Amino acid sequence: MKKAFFGLVLVFASSAVFAADAPATPKKEPLCRACHGPNGAAPIAPNYPKLNGQNKEYLISSLKAYKAGDRKGGLAAAMVGQAKGLTDADIEELAAYYAAQK
Ligand code: HEC
Repeated sequence: MKKAFFGLVLVFASSAVFAADAPATPKKEPLCRACHGPNGAAPIAPNYPKLNGQNKEYLISSLKAYKAGDRKGGLAAAMVGQAKGLTDADIEELAAYYAAQK
């Protein structure tokens, strides 16, 4: 009985931690949704990338590379204009959000 109770406490405690970790939807997310889809999980074309569950550090470095004009070729032109409008704080917020999406 004691063991079962302890297990339950653990389940509640860990779900509370996950809920606290889930970042709020960034205010610029609707711009990204237009191409990358809801939660970044359903891009509008098969040659557009999914963003959900991607590593936060990778998302940050990609967005900064587009913004700086260092990431070119392929479909990068579609992203450069998007990234130029983002501040470092926007990038941080969007990267944390997409990294946390399933
Ligand atoms: C007009 C359509 C469009 C919009 C709007 C758009 N993206 Fe993209 N995004 C793309 C395409 C296409 C690529 C692939 C570019 C390439 O080949 O480098 C891409 C690539 C990316 C990548 C790199 C993914 C990887 O796996 O390397 C990130 C990160 C990203 N977009 C984030 C965003 C964020 C955040 C927003 C909103 C601020 C956004 N995008 C808005 C079309 C778009």
